[in-house]
Amino acid sequence: MSLKNIIIEPDPILRKESEHVENIDDNIRKLLDNMLETMYAAPGIGLAAVQVGILKRVIVIDISKNEEKKNPLFLINPEIISKSKKTSVYEEGCLSLPGHFAEIERPAECQIKFVDYNGKEKELLANGLLATCIQHEVDHLNGVLFIDYLSKLKKDMIIKKLIKHKKELNKVVL
Ligand code: NI
Repeated sequence: MSLKNIIIEPDPILRKESEHVENIDDNIRKLLDNMLETMYAAPGIGLAAVQVGILKRVIVIDISKNEEKKNPLFLINPEIISKSKKTSVYEEGCLSLPGHFAEIERPAECQIKFVDYNGKEKELLANGLLATCIQHEVDHLNGVLFIDYLSKLKKDMIIKKLIKHKKELNKVVL
């Protein structure tokens, strides 16, 4: 396994739509393994393949808090098939927007269908943090970031800070 670099906003790739995965093979499983390792190392609770520069509809999630009991969820070609009218608000962050958080309102429950690590089709009814996390990650597959739900003023401010942050990172590398 190996760690992948996480792409930071602003970057045009984060705005692209990811492609449907046709074959669930060892390459996809290797990508999932590397994404999971990258997410745990970050650390984060969700990561979409586009965030490591791969435009495939693939997500890893683990919302378990206890380090001892990891509970990874691998979602290939996830599709939200229904959402509740009831909403909930969580303070969201994103590995592609380091240091920035905002309260985002989303449907409190969602039902998804997806293909799992072994290529099996499954359905899942999610609520709470998991429902928010799934919707946040599926947004990534469609080129959407949580800052898109904020006012233009707030969004522009965050992007400005991220540009500055990226310049600082480059200085360290040089
Ligand atoms: Ni994110």
